[in-house]
Amino acid sequence: MTLVDPFGRKVTGLRIAITSRCNMRCIYCHHEGETSPGEEMSKETVVQVVKAGADLGIKSVKFTGGEPLMRSDLEDILNELPGHLSLSLTTNGTLLAGRASSLAEAGLDRLNVSLDTLNPRIYSEITGGTKKDLDRVMEGIRSARDAGLTPIKLNMVVLRENQDEVDELIEFAKEEGAILQLIELLDLEGIGLGGDLLNIEKDLERRSDRIVTRHMHRRRKYFLDGAEVEVVRPIDNTEFCANCTRLRVTSDGKLKPCLLRNDNLVEIGSADFEETKLLLREATARRKPYFLKSSLLKNDG
Ligand code: 5AD
Ligand code: SF4
Repeated sequence: MTLVDPFGRKVTGLRIAITSRCNMRCIYCHHEGETSPGEEMSKETVVQVVKAGADLGIKSVKFTGGEPLMRSDLEDILNELPGHLSLSLTTNGTLLAGRASSLAEAGLDRLNVSLDTLNPRIYSEITGGTKKDLDRVMEGIRSARDAGLTPIKLNMVVLRENQDEVDELIEFAKEEGAILQLIELLDLEGIGLGGDLLNIEKDLERRSDRIVTRHMHRRRKYFLDGAEVEVVRPIDNTEFCANCTRLRVTSDGKLKPCLLRNDNLVEIGSADFEETKLLLREATARRKPYFLKSSLLKNDG
């Protein structure tokens, strides 16, 4: 049983915001496209939507927020999920140190930690956090590694503020055995703070021993003296949408076919297991690439 949208794109992953709450306030935060979230999904709803998805061929689930570790029942949720799923988490890392081993025990496989800078002053400017918060993030990364939540991915949104630090972050990722993701700013509110990722990528190209292009979102991976760097560029990238295999779930329980649209949501409400499966099919049917490639257009309608 699989979910395939009208553009022939298979849905194999769920990206679930389990809360809209966060203890940080990053200047670039896109709040996962949630404008004014209602009540948080219950643990039961989260578990049910994942199980229903698994029944329809979903293979991987990524938990996001807000900050997903704001929920203390995340381990309970993970404990109830089918073992064959690949489970990951995107976190700001500040609450990770005390949770890494319990998350791993509950079945989490991997995680992404936001790390835009190693400089406390710049960290404060970007996230509003203190040096102590940054120290906690570092400790969280070490705990996650010790708990076997590997490979850890470090998310660096490339801004004017931090773009000179790319080399330092590459070095840091290498030492930690982590993968560095350089992420292009998705500037929905026009804050105009994006860095020059194009030039950074050109430089990576020059210095790399090997370059690999992943199918999903046409991401390129650069390998340079022991380091692994991935570039994520969603803007004006028709390939990005063409290869998207994800369906989103908002923290207040709506199936969201695309990060960048709010006009095609499907409310889960009090649906039972079988109804949730139908809703997943409905949301899949509503999937339409935001950046539409002309070769996909012929399938439209
Ligand atoms: N542009 C790009 N990435 C973003 N993230 C959040 N907001 C944005 C944005 N405007 C990503 C970052 C962060 C994760 C929680 O979400 O990668 O690490
Ligand atoms: Fe947004 Fe994540 Fe930053 Fe929280 S940590 S403000 S959810 S980007």
